Amino acid sequence: MKGIVLAGGLGSRLYPLTKVTNKHLLPVYNKPMVYYPIETLVRAGIKDILLVTGGNSAGDFLKLLGDGKEFGLTHVNYTYQEGEGGIAAALSLAKDFADGEKVVVILGDNVIEDNVRTYLERFKNQKKGARLLLKEVPDPERFGVAELKGDKVVGIVEKPKKPKTNYAVVGFYMFDSDVFKIISTLKPSKRGELEITDVSNVYLRRGELEFDVLKGYWSDAGTFESLFRANRLVARKAGIQQ
Ligand code: G1P
Repeated sequence: MKGIVLAGGLGSRLYPLTKVTNKHLLPVYNKPMVYYPIETLVRAGIKDILLVTGGNSAGDFLKLLGDGKEFGLTHVNYTYQEGEGGIAAALSLAKDFADGEKVVVILGDNVIEDNVRTYLERFKNQKKGARLLLKEVPDPERFGVAELKGDKVVGIVEKPKKPKTNYAVVGFYMFDSDVFKIISTLKPSKRGELEITDVSNVYLRRGELEFDVLKGYWSDAGTFESLFRANRLVARKAGIQQ
């Protein structure tokens, strides 16, 4: 399976930290943020990786990651997203790279402790459709939130004011090759972006959406609070007293 890391956007919620640099180059404890999603993919056995970047300091990714040797890769693919089209718009740039295969997509600001290999194996055995990872959080209104009935997802709402559950959708998505056709049918949301939640909801309506509940810690790092939290989690794991 091919892996796609989405590391574009303006990171405006972290302004002025992101005034001159890209959010995904900011430190999370002892590494640049983008290292974590790449390591998550590599740990799960994904070797063919595309990095989609955009916004500030796009060229610095090349300098930082090079051919991916540090991660045990022999090469990394790169592409550039113009403007702020949203996560699904960034993903649409990966169509040629995917070349008709299933893909796994991770957001460049997601720090995941668990090894996702098991979930990828389950997706490999899934004939078609999509597979999400969910995680219980204390602040679901900040995320895409899954509504559950028994062991089925019955709806996903992006940043609901009154979340129906505490299950946030992790920024890690497994899609079959239909995803690119689906993205081409999407309309921009109220915030003017093509939403990844809308993609998942298309699969849901088709009855082709499965999920797993993620183990271990998980944090995004796109706000001051969550960036701080991600730093603390990683430092604690490294044995740093806090
Ligand atoms: C995005 C997605 C959201 C998901 C989150 C995970 O939110 O839109 O559904 O739960 O990533 O990190 P954003 O960080 O772009 O606001």
